[in-house]
Amino acid sequence: MTVSLSFDLVKGDAVLSYRDSCLATTDRVADLLARMTLAEKVGQCMQLDAQGDLDDLVTRQNVGSLLHIPPDRMARAIELAAATRLGIPLLLADDCIHGHSFWPGATIFGTQLAVACSWRPENARRMARITAVEATSTGFKWTFSPVLCIARDLRWGRVDETFGEDPYLIGELASAMVAGYQGSELRDETSMLATAKHFAGYSETQGGRDASEADITRRKLLSWFTPPFERVAREGAGTFMLGYQAIDGQPITVNRWLLGDVLRGEWGYRGVLVTDWDNVGRMVWEQKVCADYTEAAARAMNAGNDMTMTTPQFYDGAQEAVRKGLLSESTLDAAVGRILACKFELGLFENPGGPDLERQKAVIGCEEHRQTNLEIARDSLVLLRNDGTLPLTASSGTVAVIGPNADAAATQLGDWAGGSGQCSWLGPDYVPENVVTVLDGVRQVASAHGWQVTHATGCSIATMTGSWGVGEDGQPIYPSITPVPADEDELAEAVAAASSADVVVLVLGDNVFLTGEGRSTATLELQGGQLALVRRIVGLGKPVVVVLINGKPLVLPTELANTSALVEAFNPGDVGGQAIAELLFGDIEPCGRLPISFPVHSGQQPTYYNQIRGQHGNRYADLTQEPAFAFGQGLTYSRVEYTDLRLEAGTVRKDGSVRATVSVANTGARTATETVQWYVRDLVTSVTWADKELKGFEKVTLSPGESVDVTLDLPVSDCTIVDADGVRVVEQGDFEVLVGPDSRDASLLDARFAVVA
Ligand code: NOJ
Repeated sequence: MTVSLSFDLVKGDAVLSYRDSCLATTDRVADLLARMTLAEKVGQCMQLDAQGDLDDLVTRQNVGSLLHIPPDRMARAIELAAATRLGIPLLLADDCIHGHSFWPGATIFGTQLAVACSWRPENARRMARITAVEATSTGFKWTFSPVLCIARDLRWGRVDETFGEDPYLIGELASAMVAGYQGSELRDETSMLATAKHFAGYSETQGGRDASEADITRRKLLSWFTPPFERVAREGAGTFMLGYQAIDGQPITVNRWLLGDVLRGEWGYRGVLVTDWDNVGRMVWEQKVCADYTEAAARAMNAGNDMTMTTPQFYDGAQEAVRKGLLSESTLDAAVGRILACKFELGLFENPGGPDLERQKAVIGCEEHRQTNLEIARDSLVLLRNDGTLPLTASSGTVAVIGPNADAAATQLGDWAGGSGQCSWLGPDYVPENVVTVLDGVRQVASAHGWQVTHATGCSIATMTGSWGVGEDGQPIYPSITPVPADEDELAEAVAAASSADVVVLVLGDNVFLTGEGRSTATLELQGGQLALVRRIVGLGKPVVVVLINGKPLVLPTELANTSALVEAFNPGDVGGQAIAELLFGDIEPCGRLPISFPVHSGQQPTYYNQIRGQHGNRYADLTQEPAFAFGQGLTYSRVEYTDLRLEAGTVRKDGSVRATVSVANTGARTATETVQWYVRDLVTSVTWADKELKGFEKVTLSPGESVDVTLDLPVSDCTIVDADGVRVVEQGDFEVLVGPDSRDASLLDARFAVVA
């Protein structure tokens, strides 16, 4: 959509400087601010749900942004904004978090957790770029992605949205994803604003319960939770979104230290800060730390928030706060200024965007995007166990594809997609047509290998009763989730299919009702009829290959401990089933690695690898403390050996670099893509610290018999801890560099070096 220059520059008789694209953004912002009324400024600081009355939202309240915009309302919203007194364009936003997944036919990638398994930042960048290309063609210029929370208690419902448990890996992937969304410059028609969320500490739940008070000190926040955020803040992420949590009695929305001193102060962040859903209102009705919306609006703005998401009462509350002197107009102006600057930088005053039907036809779900999605899905599968059953290389056979997730398109897509509940206009039962489930994929691939395929669902997992809604108080109502018990007929059908097969592929996991916001689980066990199904199938004594499609690590029953193979896919997106089938039949090599640890028992929480040193013993009285599968784990179809770790120097200065080299050899019979992982252990620290931390990784592909040297060049300035005063420092003394295929001590070679002044 192009708006004519004469219309741009002239409204009434006067030339409006803010419309002159030759002027600097700061001058345009100053000019526009000077023309705005108090009500218009407050409106700019609001983001409301576009499913409300558009005339009221845009024309009367002059909201700065709309979210969750149904396709048929986009153009109208833009038109209404253009017709307002000052014609300030809207920021149109949505949760395009693993693809533009609320748009029929769009490319839907694996979730962040799934894609993190590839340990390839380039995959995160490509996924974000394609999402931006597709989403901007429909009118969106702002996505609420990526999530930079570190996964902690796995019972939390939003683990699937994270890149896993390690701050360094999260930083690498998030940085790439922000770059992918924002493109070469924000003005480009395919660029959209990224959002680093949820700032910060939201994932440190109590018992996995969503949005509970986060028990976390400032030092702990700075040690592990904020580093990925700092990285993308310094790299120019356009926006930051808060979480829901309170820390030490303070809702994050009013945490002046974190939002002011740290984010805007120390890190010099100049972008927009948006609250999460009704954070301002929740301080009144839920957390009960503000008497009314006037106080809540004032406190949120005074703490440094720019935009308030979905708190309609903010409109009157903030105006009243200014009138009462609780909120200064200069503070309000600073927030409005940042929002306007964003709009100028995106070029929205020159081109407010909007649906571009031609571009949509060319890019939404196009073949090129589907192929890239397939490449990413292939990279993201993690082989966790294999007794040699995989790949299925026999020239013929019958494979029985069994289980509740064998043909479960919605589960394969995961949360924030299609019918996962957040998108009212698609409806709860909506599932895109173009999903290749595991069953579809195996049917396609098996015939080329001379195999027959049979199928039975075997059992169900959980259903949802009631529906998402909004209560009289304007707050969300969650449906209730009920596990579905095993059904004898379904079990018998599965046993019959398995009995006449050579190999069973048993596809288990969870479903979209057991993952997501407000959907934390008390346990991590397989739900519904799955255990009964496992017992029947394993009891047949056939080779069983387990494929997991799930939002987060699960606790697997002991009955599965000796199955032939185990493949973790998480929610692998719309072509995930094809990638899985190719892996089973050996058309591709497994190369994913876990970005998160798997517990043996829910009671072991938390199981992340980078635990702080210092406890009595290393196990529970009744159970190991070791995870079932550790961070970094994943097998190839070949064999890879690490030898000869050597350091260039045993002593390095604080301003120097550690240079370490290791030889990595493929001693097996197939090509292997190995993820060489480098960790550092600081042997004595002035405060307790993680026993080891990931500091680098590299993917290398080796033919059978091939060997390469892999080198780490690590600035000593990255070997930090956060000291007792909350300052990140390098401490002199002895360190170890560790290298190997995963984070377990037994898998790693080590070499010692000393850091001197
Ligand atoms: C609440 C969620 O916490 C956040 O991640 C999301 O972006 C917003 N709602 C908008 O849908």
